[in-house]
Amino acid sequence: MDKLAIIGGRPLFGEIAISGAKNSALKVMAASLLTDETLTIFNVPRLADVDMLLKLLAQHGVDVTFEGPTLTLQARTIASTEAPYDLVRKMRATFNVLGPLLAREGKAKVSLPGGCAIGARPVDLHLKALAAMGAKIDLDEGYVVAAAPQGLSGARIDFPIVSVGATEHAILAAVLAKGETVISNAAREPEIVDLANCLMAMGARIEGAGTSTIAVSGVPRLHGAHHTVLPDRIETGAYAMAAGVAGGELYLRHARLDLLGAAVGVLEEAGLKLTADPTGVRVRRTLDRCRAVNLVTQPFPGFPTDLQAQFMALMTTADGTSVIKETIFENRFMHAPELGRMGANISVDGQTATVRGVRRLKGAPVMATDLRASMGLVLAGLGAEGQTLVNRVYHLDRGFERLEDKLVQCGALIERVRG
Ligand code: UD1
Repeated sequence: MDKLAIIGGRPLFGEIAISGAKNSALKVMAASLLTDETLTIFNVPRLADVDMLLKLLAQHGVDVTFEGPTLTLQARTIASTEAPYDLVRKMRATFNVLGPLLAREGKAKVSLPGGCAIGARPVDLHLKALAAMGAKIDLDEGYVVAAAPQGLSGARIDFPIVSVGATEHAILAAVLAKGETVISNAAREPEIVDLANCLMAMGARIEGAGTSTIAVSGVPRLHGAHHTVLPDRIETGAYAMAAGVAGGELYLRHARLDLLGAAVGVLEEAGLKLTADPTGVRVRRTLDRCRAVNLVTQPFPGFPTDLQAQFMALMTTADGTSVIKETIFENRFMHAPELGRMGANISVDGQTATVRGVRRLKGAPVMATDLRASMGLVLAGLGAEGQTLVNRVYHLDRGFERLEDKLVQCGALIERVRG
């Protein structure tokens, strides 16, 4: 298993190109199942998660061409409506093929998903949404078996909690349903707007994406389209924090501050200066040492759970005490003990972590536990004294494109150790 060796303590200067958003690309890719015409997707990041979904799509009969960051997908016919355990267990986003398969073919059998080990992560809301649209749903030996022989019908779907995946799934199924679907308490993440934009370019009729009420008027068929994936806001936030941890000044090309929501204010309060221009965002630390800031993770536009681990890493050496509350997932502080191995002073009580800033962390061997937590450990390593060895880098490869290249270009001492 590959490791990353990082020698910390060097300020970062230079430019990092922000890739297309993983969490958007994956859902847009699933939309290819809804039409027999070609969907061309630009700005797709080269990531293990993308490859995994491509494998699954190919298995469903999708023709795939991937050149540079441009992905061309065409599902002329659906070869199989079954998504096997082996291709779904590693990544939650693969589960979102269920809705499109059901909408187009009237049936689907999809394994219950896997993903990062950050909590229970059920899919009950996904299934309730599909059932509301008329699907008959059974669970059989770890598989969801869904049928809608007469097609799906528009429905009112009122989510009891905000779910990004379930909102996306409901939209993906509703676009080909008969009649209107109204989703209330919908998630408002930028990736949902991106997915809706792609579907609208394919001929779907969607109103309100980006607000908490989304209306979808079903159409009989969708056609091919071109779509450009928006820049990754989590990658943007993570590299902004890299400048906070290590010092220096970075230009994050393609980054958009409007996608970061509450994270902008939090990072500024912590002592980062973020300046947007039409092609990107410049970031630098204005203080000698970052300031401690309290944080609560929330659905967009609140501070994203996907940046919580990186923010905790930033706070380990901040001036003061930061209280971090994780409200989205119940088991998302696994990076805390790893940061502790590097000398961080963190106590965890349920969903709340208290981080007492220390002057400096010391490099140590640490274990990546999930995708975003791993990035937190990389950030901590960039600021620490001596060498940090991040084990289980495969987590990072799922979601951060060319991570070490991007950082090396800016002066970081970071190297992949193959193993
Ligand atoms: C979540 C995050 C998203 C992040 C992604 C990967 C939120 C609101 N969502 O999206 O920003 O990019 O993880 O880390 O911040 N839930 C249910 N039943 C369901 C679906 C979800 O109870 O059927 C619960 C989850 O356990 C969680 C909450 O709803 O507590 C939000 O989950 P959801 O947004 O669906 O998760 P993801 O789509 O994976």
